[in-house]
Amino acid sequence: MNRHTVAEITANKIRGGVGEGRTHDSAHKHVTGEAIYIDDMPEPAGTLHAYLGLSTVAHGKIVAMDLSEVEAAPGVVAVLTARDIPGMNDISATGANDEPILADSLVQFLGQPIFAVVAETREQARRACQKAKVEYEELPAIIEPEQADPVNPRLVTKPMVLRRGDARAAIEKAPRRLTGRMNVGGQDHFYLEGHIALAVPGEDMDVLVYSSTQHPSEVQHMVAHALGVPSHAVTIEVRRMGGGFGGKETQANMFATVAAIAAKKLNRPVKIRPDRDDDMTATGKRHDFIIDYDVGFDDEGRILGADFTYAARCGYAADLSGAVTDRALFHCDNTYFYPAVHAAAKPLYTNTVSNTAFRGFGGPQGIVGAERVIEEIAYALGKDPLEIRKLNFYGTTDRNVTPHHQTVEDNIIHRIVEELEADCRYRERREEIAAFNAKSPIVKRGIALTPVKFGISFTATQYNQAGALVHVYTDGSVHLNHGGTEMGQGLNQKVAQVVAEEFQIDIDRVKITATTTGKVPNTSATAASSGSDLNGMAALNAARQIKNRLIDFASEKHGVPKDQIVFLPNRVRIGNQEVGFNDLIREAYMARVQLSAAGFYKTPKIHWDREKGEGHPFYYFAYGAACSEVSVDTLTGEYLVERVDILHDVGRSLNPALDKGQVEGGFVQGMGWLTTEELVWDEKGRLMTHAPSTYKIPLASDRPKVFNVKLAEWSQNAEPTVYRSKAVGEPPFVLGISVLHAISDAVASVAGHRICPRLDAPATPERVLMAVERLRVAAR
Ligand code: MTE
Ligand code: HPA
Ligand code: MOS
Repeated sequence: MNRHTVAEITANKIRGGVGEGRTHDSAHKHVTGEAIYIDDMPEPAGTLHAYLGLSTVAHGKIVAMDLSEVEAAPGVVAVLTARDIPGMNDISATGANDEPILADSLVQFLGQPIFAVVAETREQARRACQKAKVEYEELPAIIEPEQADPVNPRLVTKPMVLRRGDARAAIEKAPRRLTGRMNVGGQDHFYLEGHIALAVPGEDMDVLVYSSTQHPSEVQHMVAHALGVPSHAVTIEVRRMGGGFGGKETQANMFATVAAIAAKKLNRPVKIRPDRDDDMTATGKRHDFIIDYDVGFDDEGRILGADFTYAARCGYAADLSGAVTDRALFHCDNTYFYPAVHAAAKPLYTNTVSNTAFRGFGGPQGIVGAERVIEEIAYALGKDPLEIRKLNFYGTTDRNVTPHHQTVEDNIIHRIVEELEADCRYRERREEIAAFNAKSPIVKRGIALTPVKFGISFTATQYNQAGALVHVYTDGSVHLNHGGTEMGQGLNQKVAQVVAEEFQIDIDRVKITATTTGKVPNTSATAASSGSDLNGMAALNAARQIKNRLIDFASEKHGVPKDQIVFLPNRVRIGNQEVGFNDLIREAYMARVQLSAAGFYKTPKIHWDREKGEGHPFYYFAYGAACSEVSVDTLTGEYLVERVDILHDVGRSLNPALDKGQVEGGFVQGMGWLTTEELVWDEKGRLMTHAPSTYKIPLASDRPKVFNVKLAEWSQNAEPTVYRSKAVGEPPFVLGISVLHAISDAVASVAGHRICPRLDAPATPERVLMAVERLRVAAR
């Protein structure tokens, strides 16, 4: 199409501009199966298939490894061990050098890859793996965090400490004090598309890897290091992932490096895709935490001093555990002001898979601790937890400094909670529920309203940068590329809307293209919810450069001052005449105007000193609140989520339809984490819950029966982010906490709300039933 239609160039609004609620650009392809994931791509001729051989002990020395039967198995072309890695045998994300691609002599968790088989078919490679004879000298293994040395535990990285004021003195002086402990479980990502990579060897040192990764640049570096070649020899391409949720921030490195090593060694394309069971066993998950708290408060429930220890099961390697436990501490306050606070992390080494990023990145675990403290105080004083929450909210002009010494400048939690509370009739329903419970001896209802404040920015300041590449072709169509990756969240759609808005052209003129390290270099992971903040701004910057060149050109050609050149929907007004956008592009091309630009953005204002525990690591905060009502069968511990109301802040939404989807999906995933999703390792360190048969994510039938989700339409980012929007990917995950607290409220009713149930997570029906029994006994 070379020209816009008459209707298009006379419209007073473009299709698909900023703020329009549009479906995901691939939604129809997701449901029809036309969306191409890596395993759907036509395999190049001669493609081989790799499979990983995994350790069968949690900790041990490999004494002997006999792979002769593996080599002799049908279809096997090669067997790779650590010795076949031409470059560095390491894929640690932070340079800790503690994460081998293939274990050499020491294995540190059950399920650790120790060799890779390459065969003509995937099934042949998978079967051949079973024929390995590996002899281990077993070493003592620490599986559970409780097994760590209480005084001098082995840590995977240097822990952070936050302190403001004298917490100890404040707690000791306080009229009231309580201490406690909470266990909160981990979580498997359960992306629909598991890990996968397809490596295609090129000439010389070159290799192209299709990888299901949130972090193409890191995969590029890992492949380059593993092969011992410069980064320029390696190209990573990502069209889309079938879900990442943080699980593909670092965990794709393993699969991409193995595929690339095999592909270069054999000079044939190599694909690797583990089974779901092996994917769950061999890749990292959300960290489970043990949270210890010690708080002092006054008779009204105002917190005076708080001391937290966040101990995390990190697994055998550092991976992102440093940053994850940091973010837990950054969120030990949630929306609450602590006049004096001390918070310390304990990133524990364990002989389990190395835990990693997962939606919220430690933040939810931090917040769950804060919410438990609020709940404890409420029970100690016989008050509604919501009252204690409000009493402790950050102020807007005072009582607004966080434990990491950042002033909260954009606090809107009071308005969010007030609106939600009124809208969902919290007070009335609490009374209705009490009346219901008085008449219902077995099924008990519970309700809870919990808030979230979530810090936006990578806490490692250097990651807060992004690039984009925009080409306008001579027909006026636009090719858009940026450093972010699409994992279902709708990033590409949002960034395309930003570009469409800037040029004032209909969105179907903007083509979203696959992420590749060859177009935009040195990118950060699409993570920390910052995808649209960073890449939206970089794309806007690129589009603006081109637009400014067009303005310069038109001004000169038509002799019209620059401020009289206005981009209208699909056309441009130049003085008192209007030309179609496409016509202007054509003219600009003829006049040799560059119609391509690389854009760049870095987040302003942020800085952070980890040693001191002071700074301004977050550009801004995102807020929200949820009210959940549940019913619990106190004879079985089973529960239903009856109703959920959410009011969430996304600033000025770039796309309310996608943002609402993120809020709904995040909430349900957070609810799954705290209710039914349970990871269990046996004493040998074997993950027992490695398939949907034993690991239960929320089903369609588990969704809240009534689910009212609203965006705070009045909100706009106080900072000049892209069109004043806010990040949305992770913060609503935290709202799942309201379900845990609603269950706790229902459980507490069996003892007249006099005892805090201290419900650990996940609150599986078993755990709920045990809590009910405990309270019944205690209340007798
Ligand atoms: N939504 C979908 N559908 N799939 C995903 O994998 N990942 C989440 C969130 N929402 C995810 C998702 C996580 S962990 C993050 S950090 C953000 O999306 C990343 O994307 P964004 O920065 O573009 O929001
Ligand atoms: N969030 C998510 N991913 C990250 C972060 C973070 O703060 N830091 C490094 N990777
Ligand atoms: Mo999200 S855990 O930051 O990938």
